[in-house]
Amino acid sequence: MTNILIAGVSGAIGHAIAEHYLSASEEVRIIGLCRNPGAVSFDESVKHRVQLLAWDAAGLPDGKGIQADIERVLTPEEGLDRVIYAAGFLHGQGMKPEKRLEDLNPQALSHAYAVNATGYAVLMQSIAPWLRHRRFKSVVAISAKVGSITDNGFGGWYAYRSSKAALNMLVRNFSIELPRKCKPIACVAVHPGTTLSPLSEPFSRSLAQLTVHEPADTARNIAGVIDGLTEDSNGTFLSWDGSELPW
Ligand SMILES: NC(=O)c1ccc[n+]([C@@H]2O[C@H](COP(=O)([O-])OP(=O)(O)OC[C@H]3O[C@@H](n4cnc5c(N)ncnc54)[C@H](OP(=O)(O)O)[C@@H]3O)[C@@H](O)[C@H]2O)c1
Repeated sequence: MTNILIAGVSGAIGHAIAEHYLSASEEVRIIGLCRNPGAVSFDESVKHRVQLLAWDAAGLPDGKGIQADIERVLTPEEGLDRVIYAAGFLHGQGMKPEKRLEDLNPQALSHAYAVNATGYAVLMQSIAPWLRHRRFKSVVAISAKVGSITDNGFGGWYAYRSSKAALNMLVRNFSIELPRKCKPIACVAVHPGTTLSPLSEPFSRSLAQLTVHEPADTARNIAGVIDGLTEDSNGTFLSWDGSELPW
């Protein structure tokens, strides 16, 4: 069995990635994390290979709860072959991307960091025992090109940009530490490409000038990147087409 954990399995991209892998092989099992498992569904033909666990990226003082929940469905000895962090926050709860300094709001900043960066770090700490096996494994954080410090020529979107930059730094740090304990491994950040989803929906007018992908296309693109990962990919920031992005 190939064991794949997807955090944010309720999202457009996370769900499409789960569906992609479930239909690609009968030997795939998905552990999906999301806030409301009851709201997530899969086709009858594959749902016996999906375990959904309740998880709130912003609500965890530590990862012990989710660690115990994962242990109930998968032993650390069975191990995880792929980890995909597809949870993310851009707008909601009265918060929206900032255009200028005056728009900065401490709640929005801390919520974006909680979902986009802290949730990933705490989850990685919780699942480390599942990464100790000898098979090759990949850890993929769905980041965003706007989190690239080098690429930032426009400014704005303070909370989202800076929380994704924080996520990128966490990926880079884990890519240094994890190979010492969990070899062979590739720990990377991936920009999924602009994709139709609740997260991108409020920006549909400006998206008209960009290439916008359907979630199923994005899932195929990301799976193409993930399936091509090797130990040499460790510590890179990759775009949906496999090209390397600057940190
Ligand atoms: N769509 C794009 O154009 C685009 C571009 C670049 C990067 N991305 C990145 O791609 C990833 C997936 O985004 P998407 O487009 O699929 O958006 P989406 O459909 O809105 O999905 C967002 C996901 O994040 C989860 N989430 C939000 N807050 C959470 C919390 N407190 N705890 C746990 N989960 C939480 C959502 O869960 P709930 O169902 O519980 O809300 C959902 O699963 C994000 O990291 C996003 O930044 C997207």
